Amino acid sequence: MKMKHKMITLAAVFLASVCSFGFGGRAEAAGGKILVAYFSYQGHTAGVAREIAAQTGGDLFEIVPVTPYPGYDECLDVAKAEKNNNARPAFEGNVENMADYDVVFVGYPIWWYDAPMIVLTFLESNDLSGKTVIPFATSGGSPLSDSLDSVRASAAGATIGEGILANDAGDVAPWISGLGYAK
Ligand SMILES: Cc1cc2nc3c(=O)[nH]c(=O)nc-3n(C[C@H](O)[C@H](O)[C@H](O)COP(=O)(O)O)c2cc1C
Repeated sequence: MKMKHKMITLAAVFLASVCSFGFGGRAEAAGGKILVAYFSYQGHTAGVAREIAAQTGGDLFEIVPVTPYPGYDECLDVAKAEKNNNARPAFEGNVENMADYDVVFVGYPIWWYDAPMIVLTFLESNDLSGKTVIPFATSGGSPLSDSLDSVRASAAGATIGEGILANDAGDVAPWISGLGYAK
């Protein structure tokens, strides 16, 4: 009787591990199919991006402007002009293997009540159709929702997942596990 119990327990453990790791489910997604792309001017969003990558096992890609943004006061003007002109500022390089990713977190500071234009350049420079794009942002107080119309319009064919304004670092872990992407 004891032996039978042991066998059943072993069978259950075996089945559970096959379900978790055997068929390319969440474990595989956490292992290599998540990308965390971000633009950060002052480093706050970069910190959140690193945290998301650590918690999901995703790969990081930094959106680096070809022309660096100037100091803060001038940057306010440059960013405003980019928005007014619907500009698409260039970024360095690109993700080499975008086709490999199912889920793309995209992070940015809120600039002038919206996503920075360079983030739209990034979204439009990649084929995101069929992928889940999950926005996250930091800001001085503006909500993430200010930027979602732009992200939706530029991430053609993607499903937009439940994003977050991550000004409070403590919000990141519960959000990631709520999404089901914790590694
Ligand atoms: C050009 C510019 C525009 C900004 N516009 C806004 C804004 O509209 N609303 C807001 O709450 N914060 C705004 N901020 C503040 C940033 O969103 C905030 O400091 C953010 O956390 C910076 O992230 P980073 O360190 O990743 O660059 C702006 C900052 C800059 C430089």
